[in-house]
Amino acid sequence: MFHPFLFYLISFTPMDNKDENNLRIVATTLFGLEEILMNELEALGAKEIEKHTRAVSFKGDKALVYKCNLLLRTALRILIPMTKFTVENDKDLYDKIQAIDWTKYLDAEDTLAIDTVLNTEIFNHTQYISQKVKDAIVDQFRERFGKRPSVDLDKPTLRLNVHVFKNDCSLSLDSSGDSLHKRGYRDKTNLAPINEVLAAGLVILSGWDKKQNFIDPMCGSGTILIEAAMIAANIPPGYYKDDYNFMRWTKFLYYDDEMFTAIFNAAVDAINPNPTKILGGEISHHVARKAKENIKRAKVSEFVHVRECDIKDFEAPDGGGVVVVNPPYGNRMVKENIEELYKAVGDTFKQRFQGYDCWMISSNLLALKNVGLRPSRKITVYNGQLECRFMKYEMYTGTKKIHKLQG
Ligand SMILES: C[S@@+](CC[C@H](N)C(=O)[O-])C[C@H]1O[C@@H](n2cnc3c(N)ncnc32)[C@H](O)[C@@H]1O
Repeated sequence: MFHPFLFYLISFTPMDNKDENNLRIVATTLFGLEEILMNELEALGAKEIEKHTRAVSFKGDKALVYKCNLLLRTALRILIPMTKFTVENDKDLYDKIQAIDWTKYLDAEDTLAIDTVLNTEIFNHTQYISQKVKDAIVDQFRERFGKRPSVDLDKPTLRLNVHVFKNDCSLSLDSSGDSLHKRGYRDKTNLAPINEVLAAGLVILSGWDKKQNFIDPMCGSGTILIEAAMIAANIPPGYYKDDYNFMRWTKFLYYDDEMFTAIFNAAVDAINPNPTKILGGEISHHVARKAKENIKRAKVSEFVHVRECDIKDFEAPDGGGVVVVNPPYGNRMVKENIEELYKAVGDTFKQRFQGYDCWMISSNLLALKNVGLRPSRKITVYNGQLECRFMKYEMYTGTKKIHKLQG
């Protein structure tokens, strides 16, 4: 069955992706962030950029693969498509995988992991398909060399992405390894934090100019604040990571440590050590403490400050700016409480955030009505499996309102 969350269809001519200086590359992302990702790619010098659902394809070289992994804020994975073929059943899949010369990509001593995404009627189980693909590859090595690569799900030499859409099977090398949203600054937590890629996307979608005030008055573990801080200070999203799958490649697109180090050092040199101050608020003592720990781990505590307070009491600095808030959606709250909370958020925007553009993301469309303000923009994004609206409420200052009336 068609699955909107897993769907990304990439069309490219099979076997045309061998030229390391002119690769077709695919960056996957979250629904709703494709255009931002296109802008990010353009800024990095990508060519022939095309938009897909939950993905963007483009052309570039090895250096661009490294830059994308280190610098893109709204990409989840950077894939290098290898080939695409039609497939009828698992035997057919096995045969077609075996027909590829895998010695161009790995040695018998190397390790392998396979991630499968299915949008098809012909296969049901991703794990079974991953197993089939693995069998086809390792059998080829065993038949030719008497030994075979082993499986390593954590840090393999080669991470393969298998995507079956109807009868089309696309094989890609996954240059990222761990999903790029795992920046590495967040402690494992039992809270329900927003995905880092979505948080960065919301900050960019808000149109914040990196100079005005930025506030998340319901900051939870601080993800939106940290992503905003990284954007303001030009800290690369991959700053805290030291492992990408491409670092283990020894054949096709073999790892060039000198090239990656030069790209990393240039990005670190471009960090702005004195960005604008960023403010957060959080009602729970325990959660506010988690936010402060994450902020410290992200090395942005000098300019990100969290207050332990109710949004109703948040004192926003003068001068206006941008608010981005990710309130509870009400999954665990009774209806009256969530309606009351959203009403309080709307009232607070009106009373305490004059001169601010206040953005709010929620999947609870009914509760959003209780904000009681007319949104000037509504953007559809997904937070995990939840379809959400990202709403913009423009809070004019009193004077502006008077000017408008006089006008
Ligand atoms: C969905 S979570 C935010 C998650 C956050 N974006 C993150 O990445 O961790 C909503 C947060 O709002 C906080 N909260 C709820 N009511 C509040 C209020 N009246 N004032 C301030 N914070 C509140 C909750 O404690 C919770 O941490």
